[in-house]
Amino acid sequence: MIGIIGGSGFYAGLEELGGVEKIVRTRFGDMPVLVGEDFVFVSRHGNPPVPPHMVKYHANMDVFKILNVEHVVAISSVGSLVDDIKPGSLVLPDDLLDFTGRVWTYYNDKPVHVNLYEPFCPQLRVALGKLSTLRAGATYATTKGPQFETRAEANMLRAFGADIVGMTVAPEARLARELGICYQPLCPVVNYVDSKTTHENTVTMVKKLESQIADILERLINNDAI
Ligand code: HPA
Repeated sequence: MIGIIGGSGFYAGLEELGGVEKIVRTRFGDMPVLVGEDFVFVSRHGNPPVPPHMVKYHANMDVFKILNVEHVVAISSVGSLVDDIKPGSLVLPDDLLDFTGRVWTYYNDKPVHVNLYEPFCPQLRVALGKLSTLRAGATYATTKGPQFETRAEANMLRAFGADIVGMTVAPEARLARELGICYQPLCPVVNYVDSKTTHENTVTMVKKLESQIADILERLINNDAI
């Protein structure tokens, strides 16, 4: 059983794969999910969509735990900070920086410290890497957004070793690890971090990459590797 979290662009394709909408009752509220025989899909931003800092991260990840999903692929679009990661490509990051400045945990009542040294899922990374020609290995920096980065912020992120930047992965990776879920982002690169980036451009590029990503997900779901 594969969990998928991403934008609603995949909904129609996954419905074709036999997904049926259900409501899952979590401790953070009732969540709509698309459940198929071999997959569970959660729409990260909900409907109508909320911005990254308002996403129900705790509820989203809890859905997978409740449905006993052990592996989750997160479709998370990013901007590139480096020349050798081009817009239009797909990247499987293997490390994480968190600049959200917020605490992401399920444990507010007792001290629990999970290990996050390897923040993502090597098993899924290998499986996804075999299904397509993806770059495996990049450091993903998470900003709180919702604005894109200033020039100085982009330079700072590069100096810290970041290759790509987005607004959603740190909370998901932290919460997934606390739930014992093996979590791997699959990142469509939708822009270079520069003065030409606009929201519209990034949305257009995500749409261009959607069918390629849907194809990879379909093969992952139908593959017995996980
Ligand atoms: N910055 C942060 N998040 C993003 C970007 C970016 O340039 N592109 C897509 N998500």
